[in-house]
Amino acid sequence: MQERDDKAWTSQPPALLEVRGLRVAYGGIQAVKGVDFEVREGELVSLIGSNGAGKTTTLKAVTCGLLPVDGEILYQGRSIRGAGAWDLVAKGLIMVPEGRGVFARMSITENLLMGAFTRKDKSGIAADMEHMFELFPRLRERAAQLAGTMSGGEQQMLAMARALMGRPKILLLDEPSMGLSPIMVDKIFEVVRDVHALGVTMVLVEQNASRALALADRGYVMESGLISMSGAGSELLRDERVRAAYLGE
Ligand SMILES: Nc1ncnc2c1ncn2[C@@H]1O[C@H](COP(=O)(O)OP(=O)(O)OP(=O)(O)O)[C@@H](O)[C@H]1O
Ligand SMILES: [Mg+2]
Repeated sequence: MQERDDKAWTSQPPALLEVRGLRVAYGGIQAVKGVDFEVREGELVSLIGSNGAGKTTTLKAVTCGLLPVDGEILYQGRSIRGAGAWDLVAKGLIMVPEGRGVFARMSITENLLMGAFTRKDKSGIAADMEHMFELFPRLRERAAQLAGTMSGGEQQMLAMARALMGRPKILLLDEPSMGLSPIMVDKIFEVVRDVHALGVTMVLVEQNASRALALADRGYVMESGLISMSGAGSELLRDERVRAAYLGE
């Protein structure tokens, strides 16, 4: 008899990112109380939930070395618990933080180059820069402008383009549509869809639950530091509890 290989029993690819039993506290306050989720290669996974649910904290534990009280964070099968942000970017795990975090006193071009700081392949960087200008024509028009003088939506595009310059294997976006006008929100979700279509694995944290779930392969709902529901994006979108709590119905 053949030795059993668990992976052979499923058509699902192995998880690129796997979080198990994650607990994070700020001083005595527990913000994340035992969270499990996984992201498989090529997936777009949306994480929704109300203010203070622990979404940003969860992303920070994965991407910024925010040390958990307990739990495992596996990336490509290896623990990255407490790893430094630089190391994680070099490994292809890149986050666009809430509030964008562009370098205000640098030009758009300089910001994009900063996104490639872990790379050495000059011709690849130049080709990717051109690709970013194709994906975001607005950035090409403004290439020499200081990032701090751009509109909120333009800064969000720049933040996403800068992250892509690091050639992410997994891109984590924390509320990319926050504070933007309806037209800009449309544009940002379009870009999220396009980047996912390019094959980039993504985690999308959003208050805009209906848009985020509509794009997602799978989704998780977070409430008070715990995952309360999970499933296919389309399934969650139809769920009555999700509709009542997060879609204002
Ligand atoms: N640096 C901090 N110090 C103390 N408490 C914090 C800190 N950061 C977050 N918290 C608390 O942890 C909890 C989770 O916050 P978090 O930012 O992860 O929520 P969120 O789901 O991202 O919310 P939002 O949708 O408003 O961005 C909240 O109660 C928040 O007040
Ligand atoms: Mg947040």
